[in-house]
Amino acid sequence: MIGLIVAYAHNRVIGNEGRIPWRIKGEQRRFKELTTGNVVIMGRRSFDEIGHPLPNRFTVVVSSTANYDCESCVTVPTVKEAIDYALKNRPGENIYLSGGAGIYREGLPYAEKLFVTEVDLDVQGDTFFPEFDESLYDKTVDEVIDGEIPYSYVTYTKKTEQ
Ligand SMILES: NC(=O)c1ccc[n+]([C@@H]2O[C@H](COP(=O)([O-])OP(=O)(O)OC[C@H]3O[C@@H](n4cnc5c(N)ncnc54)[C@H](OP(=O)(O)O)[C@@H]3O)[C@@H](O)[C@H]2O)c1
Repeated sequence: MIGLIVAYAHNRVIGNEGRIPWRIKGEQRRFKELTTGNVVIMGRRSFDEIGHPLPNRFTVVVSSTANYDCESCVTVPTVKEAIDYALKNRPGENIYLSGGAGIYREGLPYAEKLFVTEVDLDVQGDTFFPEFDESLYDKTVDEVIDGEIPYSYVTYTKKTEQ
C-alpha cells in the first residue's frame, strides 16, 4: 500500500519556519501506529528537522543536495525513485509519503490512501498541503479528538476507476 500521511490545520497549513506550528500531546499517535515497521518517504528539510531516522522504520530521504545513508535510511533524488526504491528493497512494507510540501505534491498521484489529521486551528503558516480533488476519494472520519485544540483522524481512499 502506498499511502500519504499529513497533519494540516485550517487552509491546509503544514509548517511554519521549518517546524510544525502546533504542539498537541498525542496528536502524532496515528503517525506512529501506521508508520512503525514500514517505510517513510520525506524531504530533506523534514528529515533535518527531526535530525535522525525515526526508530523502527525505514526512511527514504528525497534530496539532490544531501546524501544520508545508514542502516535504516537512504537518499534518492526524486519521489518516484523513493517509491521505486521502497517497492524493490522493502517488500511487504507499507509506504508512507510523509512530507513536506514537495513530497506531497509529487507523491499525491501515487497514494492510494491519504491519512489526514485535520487540526481545528487557525495558524500562521508558510508551507501548505496541496489542493486536491476530494471527489476522487471516499472520505471516512475515523476518530474525533476533543481538547483545547480538537483534531480528527480522517482517511481519503482513492476511488477505483470504472
Ligand atoms: N504537518 C505535517 O504533517 C508535516 C509533515 C512534514 C513536514 N512538515 C513541515 O513542513 C515543513 C518542511 O517542508 P518543506 O516543504 O519546506 O521541505 P521538505 O519537503 O521536507 O524538504 C524540501 C527538500 O526536499 C527535497 N525535495 C522535496 N520534494 C522534492 C521533490 N519532489 N523532488 C526532489 N526533491 C525534493 C529537496 O531537497 P534538496 O534541496 O536537498 O534537493 C527540497 O529542498 C516544515 O515546516 C515541517 O515542519 C509538516
